[in-house]
Parts: sequence; structure tokens; C-alpha cells
Amino acid sequence: MNILLLGSGGREHALAWKMAASPLLDRLYCAPGNAGIAREATCVALDHADHAAVISFCKSHAIDFVVVGPEAPLVAGIVDDLEAAGIKTFGPGKAAARLEGSKGFTKEICRAHAIPTADFERFTAAAPAKAHARARGAPIVVKADGLATGKGVIVAPTIEAADAAIDMILGGGLGEAGTEIVIEEFLEGEEASFFALCDGEHALPLASAQDYKRAFDGDEGPNTGGMGACSPTPAMTEEAARRTMAEIVQPTLRAMKAMGTPFKGVLYAGLMITREGPKLIEYNVRFGDPECQVLMLRLASDLVPALMAARDGVLKDFDLRWRADAAISVVMATKGYPGPYAKGSVIDGLDAAAAIEGAEVFHAGTTLGADGQVHANGGRVLNVSALGATVGEAQARAYAAIDAIRWPEGFCRRDIGWRAVQR
Ligand code: AMP
Ligand code: GLY
Repeated sequence: MNILLLGSGGREHALAWKMAASPLLDRLYCAPGNAGIAREATCVALDHADHAAVISFCKSHAIDFVVVGPEAPLVAGIVDDLEAAGIKTFGPGKAAARLEGSKGFTKEICRAHAIPTADFERFTAAAPAKAHARARGAPIVVKADGLATGKGVIVAPTIEAADAAIDMILGGGLGEAGTEIVIEEFLEGEEASFFALCDGEHALPLASAQDYKRAFDGDEGPNTGGMGACSPTPAMTEEAARRTMAEIVQPTLRAMKAMGTPFKGVLYAGLMITREGPKLIEYNVRFGDPECQVLMLRLASDLVPALMAARDGVLKDFDLRWRADAAISVVMATKGYPGPYAKGSVIDGLDAAAAIEGAEVFHAGTTLGADGQVHANGGRVLNVSALGATVGEAQARAYAAIDAIRWPEGFCRRDIGWRAVQR
């Protein structure tokens, strides 16, 4: 079969790498892709926002299945349009993608179905929002309702910081995404990323994973899209996974189905494992990045039939096999990220890095220059990943691969996996 993958990050490189190994695959295309994805797939310049162009590409290239990586096309309804054109697609339709597209929508589902989450209120005006924050006290969390590329959540340590966040978001600082805000209780615990393939009715949990979101070692510095990931994570015990399925994922699927908008695709629950058990921080309607990279390394089964079973509504008796090995993925980012950074620097030593035992280098933001060299083309640029018998071994291999890379304009955290190693 022929598959079209949409996206251009490290998540999509890992998906392309895994799907390229499927015996079911004839041709793999990726739009737009990057220099690393180009080793696994034919990269094509297609604008995701132009659904008609994507449909016409699918028809002219006999595409049997489309896999959507990032959230923006999902929230924009690309799955509905492709399916209406007769093209099977992995991912939720527009209505179900509201689980990521609107924090208020998700919080109302939690409230209506007693799904454990932080207490919250929704506001569209600053004065009542500030009064509420005062009544509750700091620390408190202020969130833009809509998609804000990771900038829409402010954990306010003081009431003054909460006031500033409320003014910034409702004052238009995040554009359309911030016409409404959610103010919620600050949850204490350890975070984990929980993924389940969903077919509208049934959910199949994936292996556990943890994201390292802060820019610098020791979980210091600004929040980022993710500086590294580890799987498995000891924070996610079997009991926590069982409770997450029973108390969070399954009630959500039942609620979505009852509303006539069943959720198909991969549901990503960002969790806080609190003293009372797992609580939902937020949903995403796609694979996590860089969590996907460690999951794909550990997945022993073919990914393609699993994604198709989710699309076709036949996940009920489906099973996936996972390697016992641990996996680590370390993000190499351009200096300056998550703030402003320069593009275009040259990256060397990638072949030497890939030659390290157990290592796999996924590209997150690269282009192939006319000089034949790989150039940095984003904030998060490489995901240097490795499998190992233990987290410690995976970590040693990933950092050995990083040390083989010559890229003075880049940086990475040196402690990805510490939470798992420490236990
Ligand atoms: P998000 O961009 O929604 O993933 O949120 C960014 C980060 O903010 C999360 O990973 C958490 O560390 C933190 N966060 C969000 N909501 C809460 C909450 N209710 N309590 C504590 N921390 C939170
Ligand atoms: N790793 C966080 C995210 O994918 O949103």
C-alpha cells in the first residue's frame, strides 16, 4: 500500500522510520518532511492548510492511507475532508480534535463525567478572572483556551503573575487562542505522558513515556515543546495505567461517542500522578514529540496495521508487542531555543552518531543544503535516541551518539532520563 504522512518533525521521522519497516508498505510519501525523513520517504512540498491539494495528491499518487502527525491540520478538519473524498485517514475529525483544540471543551467533559482533573473555571473578562484567582490563591494556573503552540499555559507562582498572565492572554497576546481562558488549580506530583490508540469505542494503551519539558538540566529554565523523553517511566505504575484507562480515557471515549463525535486516532493524556492518583492536565489528539520517538523505538509490532485498525474501528482484539529494552531520546536544539534562534548552521558527524550501538538519530528540523550538508532549520533540530537494556545503558548510548555530532550552534540537556535512573 501507499501511505502519505503529514508533518516535518522528529515525531514524523520516527513514524516514517517505523512505517518504512512495514512489509505492507509499497511507497511512503511525507509532506513536507525534512532531511532525515527523506531517507525513509519521498518528501513532497504540500501545504497542509490546502486540503484540496492534499486530496488531489492522494488521488494522483494512489494513496491508500494518510497518517496525520501534528495537531493543527487535525483541528482544521483535514481528516473529515480526506475521508469525505474516500481517502482512509488516521486521526480524529475536527469535532473530536476539540479535545486538544479547546481546553474549556475538555474541562467540561471532565466535569460532566467525573474525570479526575484540576478544578477550574472559564472566563472571557479579566476582572472576574482576577477575582477568582485571588479567591483561590497562588500558585494557580492560567491557560488560553485554544492552540497556542506551547505558550498558552502559565503556572503563576504569585497572584501578581496570575494577573499579568490574565492581562496578557485576554489582552490579545496570544491572538484568537486567548479570547477565553481557563483558570485552574495547581496540581502537585510527577508528570507522565499516556498514549492510547482509539477506534471510536475501544482504546489500546501504548507503553509508558515521560517528557522532559524544561530547557535546562535539573528541570530548570523555560518550558519547551520537549527536550527529551524516556520510556518506560517508573512514574507510570501498572496501577496508575489501569486507573488512567478506567477513570480518564474510557469515560472520555464514551462521552465523545455519546455526543456523536467518536474519537479515533491516538489520544495523548498529559497526566499529573498525584497522591490521589492520576489526574488529567490536558489532552492532545496526536502522538507526543519527543515521546513518539521512544515509543517507536520500543514498538516491536508493525505500526501500520495498528493505525489502520484504529481507523477501521477494529481495535477491540488488537494487541501490540513492546521490547523490554528502555529507550531515551535527547533533543538537540539551536542555541537560543525556546527563544529566538538562527537558522542554517551546518551539522556534522551524523553518520558517526548513527553508528553507535542501539542509537538512532531522528531529524526534527533540518534541511539538506545545496552543498549536500545537513543544515539546522528550526528550534528543535535533532532527536538523538537509543535503546538499551536499562535506562542507564540507553542514556549512555544516546550521549555517546551526541558526542559524535559536531554542531557548535546546538545544545542539549545532559540529564534526560534522570527521573527513571534515580529510582
Ligand atoms: P501544557 O502546555 O498544557 O502541556 O502545559 C505545560 C505545563 O504546565 C505542563 O506540562 C505542566 O508542567 C504545567 N501545568 C499545566 N497545568 C497544570 C496544573 N493544573 N498544575 C500544575 N502544573 C500544570
Ligand atoms: N511532548 C509534548 C507534546 O508533544 O506536546
